[in-house]
Amino acid sequence: MRLVLYTGKGGVGKTTTACATALCAAARSRRTLLASADAAHSLGDVLERRLGPRPTPIAACLDALELDARTEMAEHWGRIHDYLVSLLRYQGLEEVVAEELALLPGAEELSTLLGVEEHCRSGRYDLIVLDCAPTDSTLRLLTLPEVARGALRVVLHVQQALSAVVTPLARSLVPIPLPDAAVFRDIDQLLFRKLRALRRRVTAASSTVRLVVTPERMVIDEARRAFTDLALFEIPCDAVIMNRLLPPAAAREAFFHGWGRLQEERRREVEALFAPLPVLPSPLRDDEVTGLEALRAHGEELFGERAPDAILGVAGRVRFARDATGYRIDLPLPHAERAALDVAKIEDELVVRSAGRRRALKLPRRLAALSLASARFERDVLVVRFGAEGTRP
Ligand SMILES: Nc1ncnc2c1ncn2[C@@H]1O[C@H](COP(=O)(O)OP(=O)(O)OP(=O)(O)O)[C@@H](O)[C@H]1O
Ligand SMILES: [Mg+2]
Repeated sequence: MRLVLYTGKGGVGKTTTACATALCAAARSRRTLLASADAAHSLGDVLERRLGPRPTPIAACLDALELDARTEMAEHWGRIHDYLVSLLRYQGLEEVVAEELALLPGAEELSTLLGVEEHCRSGRYDLIVLDCAPTDSTLRLLTLPEVARGALRVVLHVQQALSAVVTPLARSLVPIPLPDAAVFRDIDQLLFRKLRALRRRVTAASSTVRLVVTPERMVIDEARRAFTDLALFEIPCDAVIMNRLLPPAAAREAFFHGWGRLQEERRREVEALFAPLPVLPSPLRDDEVTGLEALRAHGEELFGERAPDAILGVAGRVRFARDATGYRIDLPLPHAERAALDVAKIEDELVVRSAGRRRALKLPRRLAALSLASARFERDVLVVRFGAEGTRP
């Protein structure tokens, strides 16, 4: 089972590219599910079909759906949520307020992903293409299993300790609603089975994120930060889609000359920034890309000889870690010439120059506040260490 997630800044063409990918894969007889995890669904509009939260057949080998966070939430968090509501109501809160508060932060989004995981396990599909919300919420979404597990584990421990001793007696003495065994079972299931499975799924080698960018500075910057954040959570990317590039014929016209040149520069820059991932150029069309035929044709041109569900590239994984001496980044640089290597931290970036090539890595906020302490090779990996805040090495 292959899972491909598309993300990028708002409006760059994520939904269009996700549809084009799914249609192309289905045309190659891959059993494909195209799913939207963006609460502001537009998948149905782009496909020109009515979609719901269950798979709807779209074409041979292709189903599509728009995940409904509320439905998924009820399914995966039902009893836990009800218990939280009763607890909050006991504190004197109105039902409506309690209902709102009991929506644990991120629970809705996380539930949509749990919904995807069920389709992944169904065995009905070779490929699931997930059209995600703009970058920030996607990152939050993908990193949530980790965060939620931590939070839930605390709840579970406290409650278990409490209830083993207190529940039978307490039920008759204190009016505080105590969770019953079914709630514990649900938390336990969610925590140890579903979230663990989800975490395994998003970090598996068969799951990759593809970043969609357009040739604009802000869009590229956001994708770079996402690339680093994904590495931080060990979620692999396999390609960058560069959308809305002027077709060569248009770029030759006098009016678009400067624009064409700028786009070409940005394209080379994106190739360097995300190397060794491939950057797939996707041309600007003379109209919106909607409907099955137009989307499939768009996909065929985008992927060319490549299989749309292949793992298109593997970036040497940047690792972020903390050991006894502090924070470190391990940067695989297999072909770097050590003598010609120059490492510096410039504002919130780690800049590595080698043999005329410059690689800048946007640092996670925690590290951006620290100063560079040392950089040295351990086999083919450049290990960069960070020192205390504000101090100089
Ligand atoms: N290569 C292209 N040429 C012409 N129009 C395009 C191209 N790619 C996308 N579009 C159009 O741009 C608009 C936005 O595209 P799309 O909905 O795919 O972006 P998105 O990243 O999913 O947006 P959102 O962040 O709102 O979900 C749509 O009208 C789409 O048809
Ligand atoms: Mg979209």
